[in-house]
Amino acid sequence: MSKTSPRLTPLTPAQLSGAPKTLYDAVVDSPRAQGPGRNILIREDGSLCGPFDAWLRSPGIGLHFERAGMALREETSMDAAVREVAVLTVARAWNIDFEFQVHAMVAKMQGVPDDAIDAIARGDTPRFERDDLQAAYNIARELVFQRRVTDATFAAAQKALGEQATIEVVTHVGFYQMVSGVLTAFDPPVPSVEVPAPHLDSAAMPLPIDLFEAISTTRAVRKLRPDPVSDDQINRALKLASFAPSGGNRQPWQVIVVRDADKKAKMGELYAPLWDQYAAVGRKALEGLPEEKAGPTLRALDAGDHLSKNFAQIPVVCVFVFNPALLHITDQGYDRPSVVGGGSIYPAVQNFLLGCRAEGLGCTLTTLLCEKEKEIRDLLGFPEEWGTAAFVPVGYPVGRGHGPLSRRDVSNLAHLDVFGARPMEEDPS
Ligand SMILES: Cc1cc2nc3c(=O)[nH]c(=O)nc-3n(C[C@H](O)[C@H](O)[C@H](O)COP(=O)(O)O)c2cc1C
Repeated sequence: MSKTSPRLTPLTPAQLSGAPKTLYDAVVDSPRAQGPGRNILIREDGSLCGPFDAWLRSPGIGLHFERAGMALREETSMDAAVREVAVLTVARAWNIDFEFQVHAMVAKMQGVPDDAIDAIARGDTPRFERDDLQAAYNIARELVFQRRVTDATFAAAQKALGEQATIEVVTHVGFYQMVSGVLTAFDPPVPSVEVPAPHLDSAAMPLPIDLFEAISTTRAVRKLRPDPVSDDQINRALKLASFAPSGGNRQPWQVIVVRDADKKAKMGELYAPLWDQYAAVGRKALEGLPEEKAGPTLRALDAGDHLSKNFAQIPVVCVFVFNPALLHITDQGYDRPSVVGGGSIYPAVQNFLLGCRAEGLGCTLTTLLCEKEKEIRDLLGFPEEWGTAAFVPVGYPVGRGHGPLSRRDVSNLAHLDVFGARPMEEDPS
């Protein structure tokens, strides 16, 4: 949750009557608001932290959820430490500082070891001595990150927790997914007091998205809104870039995250004539073709015009540069362009695109500016021996953004044993 001001003006007790007041009283009189939790839940002006301030405006559902939260806490067979491990896993997945801090405090009181809490905060996998805590973590993690539960994890949970507590842990995870959605959407007020618990490094944990869905929908998104993109979002996408393979694991690339308006405007000036020339050739090649053949490419070229004209307004341009001295290029001796060197750079760029996709950000791998390497070097100050590999404009999409791709079937790309022999057929499932 960001530290921006709440999206709803917090309600104080004096403003409440009827059902909202009934809900307010239920919250402040509940066991969760007694003891050290009270100052975290109730602010100095009496307004409520967590999801409750939002629910005061829809007390019909708020009353049910308040009771459901208490039932999960007070009327279940789940051990309190098990319960808190499950919540911490959800809070970590959603990157919600407040939720994590509050529950880290409770988790400590319930005997969850500090090193496990710190590991969850870092995005690492905690190792518990207690089987029930490990089972709760594993099942919660699979649910929130993979949206499935493997047979092995389910069996381990049944064994360590028993049937009833397994059902309760899964339900608890679902409840806190809903609470996390409310906290994320409304950015409610944070406590008046300092909560002594670890802050989450939001860059450490990429957002959960199905791998197949991400890869099969990451297309060139060239129409971008000028709305700001946070450093956290770029850092999370770059974290994925950093996981890419490279020859000898030398990672021969660096990235310059360009936000400066003058630098982006200069890049746009350099890009426009290159794009115009490229697009003119592309449009000429489409002349006379029927709409069903030419249409998609013409629309992509129009989007490219938009990108070219609006380069200065793109919130972020990530420029991937590389050091040729770190490349082991195994195909240089042939009478054709060498490609192997790029294999240590472009997987990182693709991972970055996927990271942007996971953040809901549009982006496109572009290379036209590599023709202006000298001017780009003067502008961005990378060393003489380094070269440019890719320029990735990033921003929220104007329209739908990422979506289905038009690509050849596997049967047109893959061959069994010998080139040109029987193609590999796609699995119809
Ligand atoms: C090596 C490479 C260079 C590219 N250069 C540019 C570029 O300079 N400008 C641009 O608008 N798109 C560029 N693209 C994006 C491609 O045009 C795009 O990936 C392709 O048309 C498929 O589009 P889709 O992913 O939207 O289906 C480049 C892509 C690659 C892989």
